[in-house]
Amino acid sequence: MKKIILTGDRPTGRLHLGHYVGSLKRRVELQNSGEFDKVFIMIADAQALTDNADNPEKIRQNIIEVALDYLSCGLDPEKSTIFIQSQIAELCELSFYYMNLVTVQRLQRNPTVKQEILLRGFAENNDAGENKPGIPVGFFTYPISQASDITAFRATTVPAGEDQEPMIEQTREIVRKFNSVYGETLVEPEILLPDNCACQRLPGTDGKAKMSKSLGNCIYLSDTAEDVKKKVMSMYTDPGHIRVEDPGKVEGNTVFTYLDAFCRPEHFQAFLPDYASLDELKDHYRRGGLGDMKVKKFLNSILQEELGPIRERRKVFEQDIEGVYRMLEEGSEAARKVAGETLADVRRAMRINYFDDKELIESQALKFRKE
Ligand code: TRP
Repeated sequence: MKKIILTGDRPTGRLHLGHYVGSLKRRVELQNSGEFDKVFIMIADAQALTDNADNPEKIRQNIIEVALDYLSCGLDPEKSTIFIQSQIAELCELSFYYMNLVTVQRLQRNPTVKQEILLRGFAENNDAGENKPGIPVGFFTYPISQASDITAFRATTVPAGEDQEPMIEQTREIVRKFNSVYGETLVEPEILLPDNCACQRLPGTDGKAKMSKSLGNCIYLSDTAEDVKKKVMSMYTDPGHIRVEDPGKVEGNTVFTYLDAFCRPEHFQAFLPDYASLDELKDHYRRGGLGDMKVKKFLNSILQEELGPIRERRKVFEQDIEGVYRMLEEGSEAARKVAGETLADVRRAMRINYFDDKELIESQALKFRKE
């Protein structure tokens, strides 16, 4: 069986370090590994609209930002098909059929949907009203739409964060249900989680659980070198580590969490030759005698090295926005072809391809002629 990747992002803003360690970097490696027959990267604008109904222009504006972030990280349209979800009408039709294979109760149990309902402040039951908006139907059913995204491209592998696990599980259930009702048609996907646990959820620069635009605690891939430095220097560390001599905590200390995610042995050689390894640095911090500033400077050097080339490549692509849109258009066309083939399979399996079905037409004709 072919190995196919599909994954994507909602274009609600520029991409940040959390996206980068959690998925982007890995995607580029997977793309270049030669292990996959096809890689599809989707800008999920339609999904983004499910909880941004009052701000569609934000989504429209951010599509190009996400595309620029993709290209500057090394996603390569020669190797990966990069496309925009809303341009693939076939996805809607698949969703329409999948909706019959999923219950309202099952959707209500989806942990990610549940959590997002709370997060977005949607009313849960019948208490929708002046102060709490109800749950948009499109939002409630987006796991089904996501199953369409994945199955339309016959994806075997979905590289994504742990928050996407319930989506993949629900997709697998839909696939099994479809195949059991209509015969073996759809491919059951698997999630591919980040392997380094610091990467599964990079905290914000303020130490809060997640980088998020609304919390203002992000380091963006498109931030200037100055911005990155400022953000690193003001990062949350151990509030109990006041004087340099004080012993410090490494757990829950954002600077060290970032080092867990980004630091490689050669960085010590290059930027902090007094230490041989991250363990050694952590030990010194725990003992006391190592100041936050020194660790932050080290982290800044590492991040600048990682982000510098990304920033430079972005500048180049920014000078050819027309070309980037053309790339997205071509990607969307190619993606649409593939989704169309899957949809044709689905219609055949469901036996709703009436006009191709000579046998059906003949047998009906026979039946009525006899009557
Ligand atoms: N839900 C994903 C996110 O919020 C975006 C997405 C939409 C996606 N469709 C997908 C991810 C299919 C993986 C596969 O980031």
